[in-house]
This record gives sequence, C-alpha cells and structure tokens, in this order.
Amino acid sequence: MAGVRLQHLVKRFPDGSTAVSGLTLDVQAGEFLVLVGPSGCGKTTALRMIAGLEVPTMGRVLIGEQDVTDLPPGDRDVAMVFQNYALYPHFTVQENIEFPLRMRKVVATERARRAREVAESLGIAPYLARRPAELSGGQRQRVALARALVREPAVFLFDEPLSNLDAQVRAATRAELVRLHRRLGITIIHVTHDQVEAMSMAQRVAVMHEGRLEQCAPPMEVYGTPATLFTAQFVGSPLVNTISGRVDGSGGRQVFTGPLVVPVHATPGDATLAVRPEHLRLGPAEGAPEATIVLVEPLGAETIVHLALHDGTELRARLPGNSTMEAGAVVQVSVDPMQALVFDAAGRLAGRGRG
Ligand SMILES: Nc1ncnc2c1ncn2[C@@H]1O[C@H](COP(=O)(O)OP(=O)(O)OP(=O)(O)O)[C@@H](O)[C@H]1O
Ligand SMILES: [Mg+2]
Repeated sequence: MAGVRLQHLVKRFPDGSTAVSGLTLDVQAGEFLVLVGPSGCGKTTALRMIAGLEVPTMGRVLIGEQDVTDLPPGDRDVAMVFQNYALYPHFTVQENIEFPLRMRKVVATERARRAREVAESLGIAPYLARRPAELSGGQRQRVALARALVREPAVFLFDEPLSNLDAQVRAATRAELVRLHRRLGITIIHVTHDQVEAMSMAQRVAVMHEGRLEQCAPPMEVYGTPATLFTAQFVGSPLVNTISGRVDGSGGRQVFTGPLVVPVHATPGDATLAVRPEHLRLGPAEGAPEATIVLVEPLGAETIVHLALHDGTELRARLPGNSTMEAGAVVQVSVDPMQALVFDAAGRLAGRGRG
C-alpha cells in the first residue's frame, strides 16, 4: 500500500472546459478517503488522472515516493473500479475475479483461494460458477469490486462502485468495504456524489466543487466546522438552515442581525448564519421571532418540521420522533448560539455563535 499526492492538478479538455482546476491533496498510506461533490465537479477526471487514464494539463501525481505523472496506467500499481464496470461475459464469476491474478501468473490453487476469500467477504461466493448475465446488477457490481480487490495493488480507486445497488445491498456493501479496509489496511480513494455514503465510510472526506477542493477533513469536522457555505449545504440532510443578515460590533460584542439575532464571534460585514436542523429550537423564547409550520414529516425516529419566518425565510427543524407539531401552527424559533456558524459574503467560515 502507498499514499497518493496530488500537486496542483489541472485538467483542461481540448474544448476549453476545465474539469479540475488546481487540486492539491495528500492521501495517507492506508487511508480511506472519500472524494465527494455534485455531478460534474471533476471527481472522475481527478481519479482518471491518478490512474493514468487522463494526462494532467498541469501538476503532478505521486504514488508513494514515486512521481508517476508520466507513467502509463499499467506501471502505476493502482486498481480502478468504474461507475460502468465491464465484466468478461464468457467467463464465470470465478474466472472474472481470478483474471488479474492469471495475468500476473499466480498459480491456479492460489488464484482460486484468493478469489474465494474475496468473494466470501463480498457475499458473492454462491455465484462463483455463474456467468455475469446470470447475476443481478448489484451482484455484478460486487464481482467488479472483487476483481479489483483480489489484485492487492498499492492503491484502490473506486468511482461510484455502489451506485447500481439497491438501498439495502448498498448499505451492506458499504459496511463490507469499510471492514475490508480495516482488515487489509489498504489505501482507498472512493468517489461518490452521495454525502451519506461519504460521511459513513470515510476517514477523511474531500469535498470538491467546480474543479476545486473546498475542504478535506474527518467527517464530523466537515459536518460541524465546514470551511465554506458550499460544504455546509452539501453535507447534512435535511439541508442546513441559512439566514441572511449582517454582523456588527467589535471587541467580543459582535451580533448577527437578520430575521434571527444571535451573539457571535465573527468578522463584521454581510453574513449568512448557518444552523443545522437539530440546533433549531421551537417554543417559547424571549424576543425570538415567530414562524409558521408549513409541513410536518414524521420519519419514525425523528420528525422534520418545515417552517417559514414572516420574511419568507424557510427553515427546517429536526425533532424527536414523538413530537406533536402540526402544520399551520405558529411557534417561536431560536437557535443554540454555540452551534451557529457565520459565513462571510464570499461564503468562507468567518466565525460562530457565542453563548
Ligand atoms: N473528455 C471530456 N471532454 C470535455 N469535457 C469533459 C470530458 N470529460 C469530462 N468533461 C467535463 O468535465 C467536468 C467534470 O467531469 P467529471 O466526469 O470529472 O465529473 P464528476 O464529478 O465525476 O461528475 P459525476 O458525479 O456526474 O460523475 C464536467 O463538466 C464534464 O462535462
Ligand atoms: Mg463521475
């Protein structure tokens, strides 16, 4: 296993579009890093540059201590599983999984042993004798994963490998990948546009937006201290509440003023207050504004309440499953100041609330 270093990677396509614009990222040896971001932000392009399938316009790629920028894919010791994987249709599952080992002239008994081990860990051992056409989409996807894993390369690159799986198989495969990673200590760069997948699997989450890195940090840090408003909004469901206003004052007495008023430690100027739905309080509070409950979504373990302040600002609150809110009711809304974040006009974290 090896770490991966991306240094100022840029990818411009001949048509003039820029897919990746200055990506610098250090992935540690043995780390499970998830690259996440909206569709079109450059995730696949970044991964393809690591694999050697795309030549960077600028910048370097290092695997371990070696600069591999100018090496062909076959000399990089990476395995990549694509969104659209391709299995050999005439081979059985076992032959598909063994294929990379056959290419490396591993003897038959050892090939079979390793193929079975990986197949068992991914729950596809019962299908070793079948051909891909006799499998469901999810099973095929796991065969593609197994084929990458059996090779034991220095680095694994996964591009949305779980996207074709139904919700239950997806959750199970997610957990299986995390366990495999722990057991084998392999370096994984896993691409997804699904923030739940990113948060649940990653040791660190790298959030990309329009070809740039917004933040790279452990999941709870990305959630609790997002570096940008984009990251705050991308991670977390329901969507973080955002309230427009401004910060005034100085010397530790700053106050955010908008539809809600919150004491803050933040740089003065136009600002957006961001509050997670679980940090909104509904109920009597001195001086707090009123909001109308627009919609109540009982989800079982929790209830999501949608509200509108009188100026039209929409809010979402996450309450316990047994709460008895009703649409049409008017409640006072306040926030836990310690949990409020302040972003400046450029969308950068500029401070937070104070108690
Ligand atoms: N070969 C190409 N020529 C021109 N533009 C391209 C090419 N490949 C990708 N792009 C563009 O580069 C941008 C980034 O594409 P990329 O496939 O890396 O996005 P992504 O983050 O993987 O998105 P998704 O989540 O939809 O897979 C997109 O705007 C895409 O249209
Ligand atoms: Mg992609």
